[in-house]
Amino acid sequence: MAEDQTKRKFYLTTPIYYANSRPHVGSAYTTIACDVIARYKRMCGYDVAYLTGMDEHGVNIERAAEKQGISEQELVDRNCKIFQDLWTLLGISNTHFIRTTSGKHARGVQELIRRTRRVSPDAIFKRKYEGRYCIYDNLYVSDSPEPANCPTCGRPAELVSEENYFFRLSAYQEKLLDLYKQNPQFVVPDFRFNEVKSFVESGLKDISISRKSIKWGIPWPDDPEHVFYVWYDALTSYMTGIGFGSAGEKDRAEFARYWPADIHAMGKEIIRFHAVYWPAFLMAAGVQLPKQIVAHGWLLFEQEKMSKSKGNVAYPEPIVKAFDELTGAKVGNDALRYYLLRETVFGQDGNFSREALIARYNADLANGLGNLASRTLTMISNYCGGVIPDAHTGAGPFSKSYTDFIGAFSEVSLQIILEAYDVFGFAGAILSIWELIASADRYLVLEKPWALASESARRDELERVLYAAAESIRFVTILAHPVIPDATEKIWHQLGLPGSVASQRIDRVLDADRKLLPGTHIRKPEGVFPRIDKKEALERIEAMENEIRNSGSSRSGAAQPRATEATSGSGTSGAAATAAQPGTSGQAAATAATGATLATPPAPAANTKISIEDFAKIELRVGVVKSAEKVQGADKLLKLLVDIGDEVRQVLAGIALAYQPEQLVGRKVVIVANLAPRKLRGQESNGMLLAASDGADGKPVLCTFAEDIMPGAKVK
Ligand code: MSP
Repeated sequence: MAEDQTKRKFYLTTPIYYANSRPHVGSAYTTIACDVIARYKRMCGYDVAYLTGMDEHGVNIERAAEKQGISEQELVDRNCKIFQDLWTLLGISNTHFIRTTSGKHARGVQELIRRTRRVSPDAIFKRKYEGRYCIYDNLYVSDSPEPANCPTCGRPAELVSEENYFFRLSAYQEKLLDLYKQNPQFVVPDFRFNEVKSFVESGLKDISISRKSIKWGIPWPDDPEHVFYVWYDALTSYMTGIGFGSAGEKDRAEFARYWPADIHAMGKEIIRFHAVYWPAFLMAAGVQLPKQIVAHGWLLFEQEKMSKSKGNVAYPEPIVKAFDELTGAKVGNDALRYYLLRETVFGQDGNFSREALIARYNADLANGLGNLASRTLTMISNYCGGVIPDAHTGAGPFSKSYTDFIGAFSEVSLQIILEAYDVFGFAGAILSIWELIASADRYLVLEKPWALASESARRDELERVLYAAAESIRFVTILAHPVIPDATEKIWHQLGLPGSVASQRIDRVLDADRKLLPGTHIRKPEGVFPRIDKKEALERIEAMENEIRNSGSSRSGAAQPRATEATSGSGTSGAAATAAQPGTSGQAAATAATGATLATPPAPAANTKISIEDFAKIELRVGVVKSAEKVQGADKLLKLLVDIGDEVRQVLAGIALAYQPEQLVGRKVVIVANLAPRKLRGQESNGMLLAASDGADGKPVLCTFAEDIMPGAKVK
């Protein structure tokens, strides 16, 4: 709630996250980026409301719960807790958190539709819908019953044929185009805005905003056979999260204060919902529109979007915890935040790599800021009795390196950094701040305070150098705080400064009355970013990731496990071939046609019987091969994407000598769906295909089906 009504308000939101699985680094990216903006705006003097939350309805939740044999509520409660724990771990400073299964949210959604009917009686109507719907992206893919794949995730869309409530989106085309014209910054970056405009210019179709065949949703007022289309429900959370729809005095005041949102931030794949549907829904209800939609790119993992369905996810918790444990200091959160924002240009796609993260940490945080702070404070401790010395700015002569150095910490540098933050230019802001750190390092090297300390006649010079260096640390600490909140608070404390960095005004960092006061007692200097060993860190991260995967919390019809490195052999050596698991020699046997066979335990002896319970532990499912390609440098391996009904799995199979990739697309296969994943040739394999081989030439023959059968069906 508003801490100070005299301040200007600023309201920003993340998308609310699908509660069908746990978060990955890609999900954390949006939340971290918004957190930096929230912290930055507070440091500019705004009263910030920052909302995040959970998107907990829809058919994907229904199915994921069913698959796990638990209720929908249990599933979303469980995942919500994992998200909230992660936001705590990452120091996310959200002021509000909304869950779409909460009663207050449901009331708000129903209120918005009632209001729409009052304000625009023609906007909502009922008619039969027949078309294809993607349950993973909650997207109406096509208005025809013909089979179609989702343009976002590539999976086959499901047939929907039912009577629905529709929103007359077609009536809002001109109004939307007018909105875009009046607000040239309504969507950023520009190139995304152009895509939005072209989409609207090409004509808008009315959209269905209710579903009848789904139960897990918010009931339509006066017609509870229908539940709200999950995107109508989810978008409205931006209002219900700050009190819309509540009768309570406090909620109403809060909504009045913070709405409309200043920024809705999100990944590029969901702009259309925010920049087209959402403003149209609000226009129809006579509600003020959000001011800006900001879209970022994707985090890629090995050149593909990091996503649950592709099974190429990295989790944030192991990274943060491994850094904390190995350094014995709370550095993991800053390390991850810094890396994500420094390495990618916001708005564009960026690659995620653990190796690069560790390298950045050691180079920029440990050797960069950490080293500057600890050597400066240690010198103040050793040469000045732990007291900030006099600045000696009154009388020269001033060396050129001093004037250059002071010049770098100028109003111009400050404005460049503030402007970068203002437009989500995180990488640019960081780059400029780290240039200042480099200039402070250079200054110390040139002035050599450690040498000055041995010449008593040059005491004033020594003090001038150390004061300037300490002052530069104060400056940098404030500017870098939104990105690395933990370490900057520690440095602030060590500088002997009162209060917190978070409470400083970032735009007033150069004001004369905010400079370090000579005579201030610093506190004991301690390294804020201890160096980390790359090999140790990678091993620790991988071990923790495996724990997550084995705990089952990455399941959902969702996050796929990332495999451990194969223990022996390689695709080229033939170790990954299907023939690795023949049955008793000379006998035809069904076998697992994937590199994952490498670590399969030895088959039981031919005459050992297993119980039906043992067999039931193996989850066999029908899969349809969506794509197949060779794996570079491994002549027996093919990389397949296999649709198993509620997700698409990446499987590496040792069948390249028996099948051409093109032969396999569309083929029905049997997949062992609950096998622990493996990593082969640096790539994930999440499951095994069954194949038979007769031992003669060892060539695998894939198990398939003669009759029609849906992907995902159980084989038993
Ligand atoms: N529930 C909807 C949003 C409703 S908002 C009214 C949704 N949820 S999501 O969990 O799939 O995605 C949430 C956010 O995470 C989106 O901004 C999405 O772009 C972001 N990311 C998910 N994977 C990502 C990457 N690999 N990289 C960067 N961001 C990604 O969509």
